[in-house]
Amino acid sequence: MDRATVSLIVLAAGQGTRMNSDLPKVLHPLGAAPMLHHALRAGQSLEPERVVVVAGHGAEAVAKAARAFDESIEVVVQAEQLGTAHAVAQAAPLLADAPGEAVVLYGDTPFIRPETLERMLDLRSRHAVVVLGFEAADPGRYGRLVTQGEELDRIVEWKDATDEERAISLCNSGVICAEAGLLFALVSDVGNANAAGEYYLTDVVALARARGLSAGVAICDEAETLGVNTRAQLAAAEAEFQKRARTAALEDGVTLTAPDTVFFALDTFVGRDAIVGPNVVFGPGVTVESGAEIRAFCHLEGCHISRGATVGPFARLRPGAELAEDVHVGNFVEIKNAVLDEGVKVGHLTYLGDAHVGEHTNIGAGTVTCNYDGVMKHRTEIGAHAFIGSDTMLVAPVTVGAHAMTASGSVITENVPAEALALGRARQVTKPGMATRLMEMFRAAKAAKKKKETP
Ligand code: UD1
Ligand code: CA
Repeated sequence: MDRATVSLIVLAAGQGTRMNSDLPKVLHPLGAAPMLHHALRAGQSLEPERVVVVAGHGAEAVAKAARAFDESIEVVVQAEQLGTAHAVAQAAPLLADAPGEAVVLYGDTPFIRPETLERMLDLRSRHAVVVLGFEAADPGRYGRLVTQGEELDRIVEWKDATDEERAISLCNSGVICAEAGLLFALVSDVGNANAAGEYYLTDVVALARARGLSAGVAICDEAETLGVNTRAQLAAAEAEFQKRARTAALEDGVTLTAPDTVFFALDTFVGRDAIVGPNVVFGPGVTVESGAEIRAFCHLEGCHISRGATVGPFARLRPGAELAEDVHVGNFVEIKNAVLDEGVKVGHLTYLGDAHVGEHTNIGAGTVTCNYDGVMKHRTEIGAHAFIGSDTMLVAPVTVGAHAMTASGSVITENVPAEALALGRARQVTKPGMATRLMEMFRAAKAAKKKKETP
């Protein structure tokens, strides 16, 4: 099917006063990503030619977050928030000559589904302007959609609505699409003679109708239009996001032992037939291949886990942790910026940071890469088929060759050649009978002390 050429305009200039926060509203985290990324992701499914984010409050931080999502995103600053039409008008200098459709999304409305946006574009074959509406259980202060059969006549904002209009339950989500040139032409005709003294984007419907053009409504589920204005709504949005992510994972063929205890990020990818145990938290940037197993109570971010690997229980994988196939990472292990080649085993109580471990190497319990000297980070290189004895301190920068061994309890400060055994610990001294004599001494001392104290 031929795709329409689309430009996306994402409104994100508002302060979000009711969040009671120094952080711009659209940067509050939802699914371990800035809220703004959710709308961008939905919009991205339309494969837009251009994406323009309208920023205002905290514009610099908003621009940074937008570019972190996609470097090609353009940002315009709306210095004063004079209304949604005024916000869209800020994109006009960039998009006035853009061919095809313009779709307006809100940065604080994270759950619009790609399919819904597709349906809106499809409806454009019948209407010049298409608005996304929903039947509200409690219409509250949403803008109301005044329809005549198939036609959308106008949108009336709650503040300006009569009692009769307020009785309408079909509400405006805010999402709107039209041919880009037309949208900007209509927007430039919008005035601010209304109860709020704002330039309402919603006025473009009546303006289009006045030009003899048709407007229509695509209807979606109310849950999709959920907007975030308060911390309570942010918490509700997080719950909704997690619910959807869990359902999606199950449908994708992932086993979740206790779905309600697993927390996903917006960009989490888990392959088919992977198993995720209870109480696992995915931070941003995690990919888990098919058939891997994440056991209970793991915390993962910025890492990749390959097919057949097992992680946890109680493991922490931090950014740059790369586990090849059949790697085993066990309990109380932390891995940061380290590549573990195929079949590596790190069973217990270990920290590996800034390291590379060759295939089939075994890392004993309590091993630590001492990667930080207080000023700089240093690397540890461990070859294939090596055996790192329990409680080895690897003082980086240091290299352990292939098939080499370190003795338990060693502090390794010098490179270990391939196939060598390195012992870096004090030699043991054993004194026959000394334990018994020592205990007798201690008991005698205790008895003498007691005798002195009792009169
Ligand atoms: C808007 C709609 C209303 C709809 C509701 C759905 C208008 C006039 N009203 O009302 O019909 O039912 O959304 O949630 O459009 N923004 C800017 N710059 C501005 C003003 C707003 O970027 O100058 C952004 C906000 O940050 C927000 C979005 O646009 O992301 C919506 O603005 P908001 O003030 O929340 O509009 P509502 O009054 O809720
Ligand atoms: Ca709002």
